[in-house]
Amino acid sequence: MLSILVGVAVQDSIKQAQPPFTAAQSAELIGYRKKADGSSYTPPNLLAYRARPLDGIWATAPYLHNGSVPSLYELLLPPNERSRVFYVGKREFDTDTVGFKSGWSRDGFRFDTRLPGNHNSGHTYGTELTEDQRLDLLEFLKTL
Ligand code: HEM
Repeated sequence: MLSILVGVAVQDSIKQAQPPFTAAQSAELIGYRKKADGSSYTPPNLLAYRARPLDGIWATAPYLHNGSVPSLYELLLPPNERSRVFYVGKREFDTDTVGFKSGWSRDGFRFDTRLPGNHNSGHTYGTELTEDQRLDLLEFLKTL
């Protein structure tokens, strides 16, 4: 649902841009999404890894493929400073850390990152930033 909504919002903005984007620019901006007419955009074979778009990333905590990092703020911290254990299931959003509140809750799911498959040790990009730089990047990520 989220990816459809974000796709529609992005395509609407692209269509309304002034001055208008060329067809080639629009295709580049839309990336792998379906075009407005429903057909698929086939990207050129770049022989390179193309990271997935982070549109709407503020709304999809917890992060990484296994949901092992509760907030964007923590994703920008070195892995040994990220929560070892947190709780999933609250609907209360934390605008400072960009994620849902993840403290203890009776009905919450206890996520232990020390268990096999739950590790949070990946994605160290951006983790050596200063606190000010980290907060600036966080503000940028909120806008996607
Ligand atoms: C400071 C720079 C970066 C930022 C802010 C950033 C941000 C993010 C975020 C927010 C996610 C979580 C996506 C999700 O959970 O849905 C993510 C995942 C990912 N990023 Fe980055 N990224 C950065 C640099 C990079 C670089 C340089 C690479 C590749 C060389 C990369 C490759 C990936 C991959 C493969 C994932 C998926 C990991 C997983 O699901 O476990 N990122 N990134």
